[in-house]
Amino acid sequence: MTVTNASEVERVEGHALSLQSAKEPPGPAHTWNPLRMSATMGAYFAQPLAFVGEQFQRYGDIFQLRIGPKRFYFSRDPRHFDEVLIRKADAFAKGRRTGYVFRQGILVTDGERWRRPARSIQPNFTKAAIGGYFGIMQRLTSRLLADARPNEVFELDKMVSGLTLEVVCESLFAQSLSADAREALLADLGVIERSVEYFDPLPHWMPTPHHLKLWGASARIDRVVGQLLRNPPATERATMLSKLLEDLPPSSAGDYRRLRDQIVTMYFAGYRTSAHALVWTWCLLAHHPEVERRLHEEVDAVIGDGVPTLEHLPRLAFTSRVVNESMRVRPPSYLLERIALQDVDIGGFRVRRGSEVFLHIYWMQHDPRWYPEPHLFIPERPLENPDAYCPFGSGKRQCVGKNFALQEIVLAVAAMAQRFHVRLAPGHLLEHRPLITLGPRTPVPALLVPRTRKLSA
Ligand code: HEM
Repeated sequence: MTVTNASEVERVEGHALSLQSAKEPPGPAHTWNPLRMSATMGAYFAQPLAFVGEQFQRYGDIFQLRIGPKRFYFSRDPRHFDEVLIRKADAFAKGRRTGYVFRQGILVTDGERWRRPARSIQPNFTKAAIGGYFGIMQRLTSRLLADARPNEVFELDKMVSGLTLEVVCESLFAQSLSADAREALLADLGVIERSVEYFDPLPHWMPTPHHLKLWGASARIDRVVGQLLRNPPATERATMLSKLLEDLPPSSAGDYRRLRDQIVTMYFAGYRTSAHALVWTWCLLAHHPEVERRLHEEVDAVIGDGVPTLEHLPRLAFTSRVVNESMRVRPPSYLLERIALQDVDIGGFRVRRGSEVFLHIYWMQHDPRWYPEPHLFIPERPLENPDAYCPFGSGKRQCVGKNFALQEIVLAVAAMAQRFHVRLAPGHLLEHRPLITLGPRTPVPALLVPRTRKLSA
């Protein structure tokens, strides 16, 4: 760090002093033993949530894992979130755990590589722009419900992923996918996402069976995006695609790759988390008939049997609470990752330069100090401690698609509630699986049971 003036000297010295007094976070003993290292990694990858939860139980709100040359810090303390994401955000870069997936997409880049595309993307997420997507969201949701086969078992997660992927493609890129293209894209995005599940010590260029599968999926996604970039769909309106092509014209192969990475990032970031939020909300409603009854009452009173409109949304207060509480209990994005660019003090603890810091949204939102009986789904409970609730992250890297997602999810929950109860197929054990996002471990077999309320004339 270059120190340029007296006040900067004071600031830096103050920082150094506070670092000197900072303590090492507690944690399991440091190991270089290869067997113990792989046992620890194995325990983490087998049960990522339970493993981290146990360490918080044992060591408190922050702990460090020291494995060989690496240090990993985990925190569930809202004050640490505030320091890392806002007050000391410049001391951290985005993590690269999902770099293979997002490459140079804005989810994982920093500095000018983040700023330029972020600026270009931003206008697509203003209140007016998001309101403009309502018609697309409404049409796709209605079509899905009209095509549904009541009382027949289907895979809820697959149906919902199809919906949220189409919403992103149509809203942001004016790209309409055939059913086959949608299925193929979902399958390939799934292969790439599952790749982060493995602790893969081998370089990606090695042709292992796992890597070959990944290469195939990546190549097919590249072809879909290449087609989109070469032949942008004809449309009157400005889309995210037209804006990106205008602001970041692909004049070299590098530019083209960066553009491709923004689009793949949007596919992933835009469809996966929203799909999980919807699946968890419907699963939780299926297990809480009393909450579902209140939700139906509200939807009947506000929308009745008419077509949902943008004006209905602010009046669906209980529906929004259901969605918000669902994202507390099952945050689709359960973990934020950063890399410390310098030695830094977090809550009186020393975090070393170059190490990875994991802010654990799931365990912060399951802390009984902020949410009594945290595993229970209680939409009536106030989410009063906004510091301990951040399913969309916080600070300058907060989710740009937050309001887009909330609009799409509240609309889908309300439209479903007008016509159907979502019921899970009997005997299905619902478990979660933390990958990049927190989704269900296995496909979720479900049924849509028509509601028996009398519709008004
Ligand atoms: C329930 C749905 C969603 C959840 C829970 C969610 C969650 C998050 C979180 C936690 C982050 C911050 C990551 C970090 O700080 O490391 C993030 C970033 C991001 N999200 Fe979302 N997201 C959702 C929906 C969407 C949608 C619908 C889109 C786009 C259409 C989107 C696009 C993005 C992008 C581009 C970023 C990166 C922003 C940046 O770094 O500047 N997300 N999201």
